Amino acid sequence: MGAYKPPLEGRDPDRFLLLDFNERTLPISQCIEQALIDYIQSGRLQMYPSYGDVVAQIAAYSGVEEQQLMITNGSDQGIDLVFRAAAQLGHEAIIPEPSFAMYTQCAAIEDLKVISPQYDRETGFPIEGVLSAINERTRIICVANPNNPCGTPVSKDDIVRILRAAPDAAVLVDECYYEYMRETVVDLISSYPNLLITRTFSKTWGIPSLRMGYLMSAAENIESLLKVRGPYDINQLAIVACQAALESPEDMQTYTREVMEESKPLFEKYLEDKGIVFWPSSANYLWTFPENPDDVEQALQQAGVLVRPKKDANGAVGLRITIGTKEQTEKVIQILEDFEQHGS
Ligand SMILES: Cc1ncc(COP(=O)(O)O)c(C=O)c1O
Repeated sequence: MGAYKPPLEGRDPDRFLLLDFNERTLPISQCIEQALIDYIQSGRLQMYPSYGDVVAQIAAYSGVEEQQLMITNGSDQGIDLVFRAAAQLGHEAIIPEPSFAMYTQCAAIEDLKVISPQYDRETGFPIEGVLSAINERTRIICVANPNNPCGTPVSKDDIVRILRAAPDAAVLVDECYYEYMRETVVDLISSYPNLLITRTFSKTWGIPSLRMGYLMSAAENIESLLKVRGPYDINQLAIVACQAALESPEDMQTYTREVMEESKPLFEKYLEDKGIVFWPSSANYLWTFPENPDDVEQALQQAGVLVRPKKDANGAVGLRITIGTKEQTEKVIQILEDFEQHGS
């Protein structure tokens, strides 16, 4: 197997508008920045992390019991823990494709057989393909809600069908983009012991650099997974930033509202007007299929905007474009207009 190596080279925010990693496109809020500065200046960096009441705080925010939640080093660690704890050689994972690379990476680490029903732009999540792939060796089913790179949502009904059809498998619902989509299956945790939900402070909350995620499930699962996670896996600055963020959620709310209610509709309308194909998305990114993706990517890069090429099931290259503020989207549209008119 190969290493999971995202294309991080040359991502200089002073040179480029970064629309290639689904990140927040504005610096973090003042209150998070100040909390970090205060902590650094408090003379406690020589101590090991201690997590205080952060689990209770996130549980209250998410509407679960404290015992139903654990913090993780980004949601990547939550995903990794589920794979490590739930499956071993001889087991199978169902990972609909295309999807977030971490799932297949974790499956490869455990040497699992992977079955990959395909997403479709028109019909969305391949529910029938997932259900028909379930067998007695299935131990993990990944449901990214919404999915990356296509932004496709999965209905609660479909998730319940999977939970019922695979009672012996861990059904991993990845709600990485929860505050953009604003739909969750957290309320199913008490009814389905095979449900595990990962979330993160990387996307909507804007602190991917600090690696702060969390995992929610039945209390018995959390108790077991805590045996697999290390006692200091989440660093103290991530805790400080996350607590500051939860205490003042207004900044996150204002930003996500602008992205989803102003900026994204503006970009969708532009794409529709130009007849550029894109996948319907419930997240802060659109997977777009211009006729000449390489040239468009180059034109955007030359004008100071980075986007991410991603291939579909037929090998066609689409550009996954993160949506930022309305002003940033207007800039992207202007660059695309100029490229269309002048070829540069
Ligand atoms: C669907 C999905 N899940 C999880 C992650 C990982 O997020 P984190 O930074 O919390 O590890 C990403 C990051 O791009 C993602 O797109």
